[in-house]
Amino acid sequence: MKHVLSAGQFDRKTLEEIMAQASDMEEIVAKGGSDMAKGKILATLFYEPSTRTRLSFEAAMHRLGGAVISETDVNFSSITKGEVLSDTARIVGGYADIIAIRSKTPGDAKIMADYSGVPVLNGGDGSAEHPTQGLLDLYTISKYFPLGESPITVSFVGELIAGRTVHSCSQLLRNFPNIKINFVAPKEIQIPDKYFDPSVDKKFFELTDEILETSDVIYDTRIQKERLDLEVYQKHKNAFHFDAEKVNKMKPNAILMHPLPRVNEIAYEVDELPQAKYFEQAINGVPVRMALIARGLGLI
Ligand code: NCD
Repeated sequence: MKHVLSAGQFDRKTLEEIMAQASDMEEIVAKGGSDMAKGKILATLFYEPSTRTRLSFEAAMHRLGGAVISETDVNFSSITKGEVLSDTARIVGGYADIIAIRSKTPGDAKIMADYSGVPVLNGGDGSAEHPTQGLLDLYTISKYFPLGESPITVSFVGELIAGRTVHSCSQLLRNFPNIKINFVAPKEIQIPDKYFDPSVDKKFFELTDEILETSDVIYDTRIQKERLDLEVYQKHKNAFHFDAEKVNKMKPNAILMHPLPRVNEIAYEVDELPQAKYFEQAINGVPVRMALIARGLGLI
């Protein structure tokens, strides 16, 4: 079954296939959608806040001609009455053909996959992973720097310890040896060892001009108040603020990404600069998730 649970599950060949399928889906969106998934139902179970991930999953299913059922607040879910997730999984698997889930606890998407009997797409499991975001990030990078070709450097900046988008995206990039990775964050919020390969990656504790000037992709992130001790959050909440002056130090063809939402990491003036690609990145979520849904349903 074509679950998407962790970025670690993908090899290079599969990633190249998904990128090509996402590109086909972008053409389908431009033509107004299709009825490929007519009669199929996607259930979105979102037990943590979300705007982009849930809505782009739902838009993706609508563009494929399918239907959506949704649970958007854990307080209105039977989980709050004490139901275990494996029971919810069995039930929702009986209502829907495919499930997208976001939850607070690492491993929840796997429980869904084990009990629902239908394909499960992990829309973020706590501070662990966010593989569908990683795939849309990879798709965005591939539009500017064809994967597996010229050497490029991707610098992840900000809160990396609990940043599930970075955990997933960096694992995907490992399939392309031409891509070098920098992790840039204060020590307390640096990348966990699990996602760091000392033989090829570099760690920095400050954002230097050299990093700004030599990176092809800068992937900035939010300092996640909800996942850090308050003291650690207060200390680092304004780390690495990107303003126009900083972004102008980047190469003219470099790109600045961010999974969004941004709080105060990127000044609004940066939106007008050619390097700013974070809105485009978010919109790429629709064709990428269309490809993942269609694969999950066995339609492509
Ligand atoms: C991210 C998330 O939820 O992990 N957002 C997203 O899905 N695009 C990042 C964040 O909330 O900071």
